[in-house]
Amino acid sequence: MLKLLEKLTQIPAPSGSEERIHNAIREEIAPFVDEISVDALGNLIAHKKGNGARVMFAAHTDEIGLIVTFITDKGLLKVSNLGGVSAINALYQRVCFANGTEGVVSLDNTNLEDGKTPRLSDLYVDIGASTQEEAEKKVCIGDTAAFSGKFSTQGNMAVSKALDDRAGCVVLIETIKQIKSHTNDLYFVFTASEELGLRGAKAAAFTVNPDYAVAIDVTRTGDVPGKLEMAVRLGGGAAIKIKDSSFMAHPYIKQRMTEICEEKGIPHQFEVLEQGGTDSGAIHLSGGGVPSGCISIPTRYIHSPAEMIDIRDLEAAIRLAVSLIEKGL
Ligand code: CO
Ligand code: ZN
Repeated sequence: MLKLLEKLTQIPAPSGSEERIHNAIREEIAPFVDEISVDALGNLIAHKKGNGARVMFAAHTDEIGLIVTFITDKGLLKVSNLGGVSAINALYQRVCFANGTEGVVSLDNTNLEDGKTPRLSDLYVDIGASTQEEAEKKVCIGDTAAFSGKFSTQGNMAVSKALDDRAGCVVLIETIKQIKSHTNDLYFVFTASEELGLRGAKAAAFTVNPDYAVAIDVTRTGDVPGKLEMAVRLGGGAAIKIKDSSFMAHPYIKQRMTEICEEKGIPHQFEVLEQGGTDSGAIHLSGGGVPSGCISIPTRYIHSPAEMIDIRDLEAAIRLAVSLIEKGL
């Protein structure tokens, strides 16, 4: 499982450029599902047939990144954000474009007052070009780049870029592989462009038209210094989401998840995330409304090149998803 997590985190797939990650996922799940398709918005949808209620599982394949808006006469790239990128997290990180061009995010402090926090508009990406013409040979306006951040483990901790949401993708893939029996008609959707506002999930929910839905994504933790007071902590188990800013879990799904965790002895905790959202936010409002839940993986330093999870929480999330399917909704 860790090998797979490493492989998936290291594939650059900023929102809208998710084909490479599709290929890797397809390879893993093809022997275990009945059909795989890609829809118009770039969602990878795997169907495992069953006679019961239709259940949609979702994990997003995209990651945050940068998009080129302007190239200066000195060959430096001005950029905008793809998803929730903060200037502080981005500064002095390495980025990689789809064609392999690498760059370093740097700061133009000409217009920045001393001691003030930089904004994205103060940053530029240096690809080692010295003129606009030279830069344009490698990069075009609108090209997107992902941050670099190697995968490593230490004890129970795993650190990498893009654990948001490749950790969720791994939960879905492992779940697909481990299911022994099921009655629900199962749709596993690897959703596109979540970081741009839950875009893929919105379209996929319309296509799948599920009776129930469960998203799997990372969530923040309150166990590091800072102003965030939140009960979720690393190593506390799979987080059963109750609320975030886009979503309220359906009592039936929340209760079903809790019962299963208690029965099977799966470590779990409850999550109320005051700021942030995920695919279930879009899915539960689709059609006439879909009773939905969300399994979260507690993660420190989300949207940085060094996101951190506890591998035991990931395992708990897989056990919960597998048990939910085997017991049925
Ligand atoms: Co995210
Ligand atoms: Zn996410």
